[in-house]
Amino acid sequence: MTSARDARRKEILKELGLTPVWRARTNNSSKSLLQALSPASAGQSNRGEPTCSAPVNAAEDRRFKILRMGWDELEASIAGCIACPLCQSRTRTVPGVGDRNADWLYVGEGPGAQEDATGEPFVGQAGKLLDNMLAAIDLKRGRNVFITNIVKCRPPGNREPAPYEAQQCEPYLARQIAMITPKLIIALGKVAAQNLLGTDASIGSLRGRLHQHSGIPVIVTYHPAYLLRTLTAKAKAWEDLCFARSTMQRLGTAE
Ligand code: URA
Repeated sequence: MTSARDARRKEILKELGLTPVWRARTNNSSKSLLQALSPASAGQSNRGEPTCSAPVNAAEDRRFKILRMGWDELEASIAGCIACPLCQSRTRTVPGVGDRNADWLYVGEGPGAQEDATGEPFVGQAGKLLDNMLAAIDLKRGRNVFITNIVKCRPPGNREPAPYEAQQCEPYLARQIAMITPKLIIALGKVAAQNLLGTDASIGSLRGRLHQHSGIPVIVTYHPAYLLRTLTAKAKAWEDLCFARSTMQRLGTAE
């Protein structure tokens, strides 16, 4: 029997968004919810739907719900998102574009002014360079390629997304990755690389190696906007593209 005190405690926890919604029934209690819901976890179908979970607070409950959305619901959720302050200054959300069954997933940092105005990622100068980088390895926006960002709303003044903003947007990217199930993820720039790989390491130390996110291979390269400013980095970016292409060949795709 629950006492009045227990009931009140539950009420307070609920107010704080800390109510346990479900509790894990497995004996794997040391495994975090994020692990339990990550696409690499055992409890997941081959299209990324979580098959078991244990949301324990409002943030996890939100993540849990997002990880079960289909494309339409996901894009509607992004369009109406008010989970971080970026919603106050955005014109349009920029969920991502491309082939939803792509082998290649390119992840940038966040929308700039032109992306904020149009709702499409990488349409400015950096976008033109990205299109050229794709063409250099016989790829084309929208054909076996999906392009998105760590945050789906423009950080004002083109600043980097704050950690809290990236964290609030993370479930959207997690769901996109789970639905697309790309063979290879290309992290464009430091912000994408650090958020995808959960590290503070420099881009220089992350380039040229194969990493993993949720069991999917990740290659890190420079952000196209950086390449526009730093012509000397273009040769290294070309090395990264060749590395990506040979990796994909090894992964056995028909490009
Ligand atoms: N830079 C990014 O990281 N993403 C965009 O969509 C545009 C510019």
